[in-house]
Amino acid sequence: MSVVERARRVLPGGNTRTTVFVPPHPPYAVHGEGAIVTDHTGHQVIDCNNNYTALIHGHAHPEILQAATEAARSGTAFGLPTTSEVALAEHLRDRTRIEQWRFCNSGTEAVLMLLRAARAYTGRDLIVRFEGSYHGTGDAVVSPDAPGVVPGSVLVLPQNDLDALTTAMRDHGRQIAAVLIDLMPNRAGLTPADPGYVTALQDLTRQYGALLAIDEVITFRLHEGGLHQEYGIKPDLVSMGKVIGGGFPVGAIGGSADVLSPFVPQAPGAVSWGGTFSANPVTMAAGLAALRLYGPLQITELNRRGDQLRSWLRDAGVEVHGSGSLLRLMTSDPTELWWNLYHRGVLCGTNGLLAMSTAMTSVHLEQVAEAVTAVAREAQSILS
Ligand SMILES: Cc1ncc(COP(=O)(O)O)c(C=O)c1O
Repeated sequence: MSVVERARRVLPGGNTRTTVFVPPHPPYAVHGEGAIVTDHTGHQVIDCNNNYTALIHGHAHPEILQAATEAARSGTAFGLPTTSEVALAEHLRDRTRIEQWRFCNSGTEAVLMLLRAARAYTGRDLIVRFEGSYHGTGDAVVSPDAPGVVPGSVLVLPQNDLDALTTAMRDHGRQIAAVLIDLMPNRAGLTPADPGYVTALQDLTRQYGALLAIDEVITFRLHEGGLHQEYGIKPDLVSMGKVIGGGFPVGAIGGSADVLSPFVPQAPGAVSWGGTFSANPVTMAAGLAALRLYGPLQITELNRRGDQLRSWLRDAGVEVHGSGSLLRLMTSDPTELWWNLYHRGVLCGTNGLLAMSTAMTSVHLEQVAEAVTAVAREAQSILS
């Protein structure tokens, strides 16, 4: 029996994550090393997906593996806090200047925790978010019409539309706990938010006493302290995930000690938040190792490579969005694009997302450019 047949018997549709499904069925990864992934048929691809942007250093980076292995030897999980969560929180504080942190196991969970924090701190219910942005799979951040979802107190606005925002704040500002924004939303086309709009958003949230919450789960990799620092704004809360776990399951929220005070267990009316594997010591150690290897020089270099690839592709007539190390190929047929690239040796996201890793060499970059250009020539769907 093939792996696909076996998989379909025990997993709905044959796998666990809708986000990695490509019809008729995706290949199964069996090995990753540096920038190369090998699937169950032996086919090898240059990894431009990098587990949806999380693997900033590609696969099996020796220093990250060493940090994770050493941590695992000392104990893979405890019913006590560990010094490793202190170390990662200090590192995040130093690079973001955001005072306090709480860890969890995914970006989805981070957003849930962020919304809980905002509602607990402000005593308000309403959350504002933006059309087309993906913030994981919690009820508050997916379509209220989706099957199985219980709609919450959420207002969805078009991003970059200042009139719509001003009207919503005027009408509901004093009920809004937080406005949640991704400054370069992947699902909505990976186009950076307009700086004037973001500044106005900060002013309006301050004016109405709502919290400004930035979802940095994908965008943190673009700047040492997260993309919001390029906008010169000061979020009240941030959610993070992906790169900060060094390839292991992770999520986090950051904020001032004041805004996160509802999580202090002795506080009156404290928010209780657990998680058997939250702040797992293996994740914390791997995350710290990965971030230490990703300072300003490496960030600038990786962003430069992404810019280089984007400019080659644009010169070849390909419509590509994004900024720095994150690119998005725009196509009307993502499945066709995905398979055509896969057959030519490139693994992208199922919506055409490409994420650079420090494991990619300039030869890999040229091979990716050649593959995308060839695919674009064949399938008019990704030509601009
Ligand atoms: C901006 C953003 N927020 C939240 C999430 C959810 O993160 P996770 O997949 O780790 O649950 C994602 C995932 O891609 C994301 O892109």
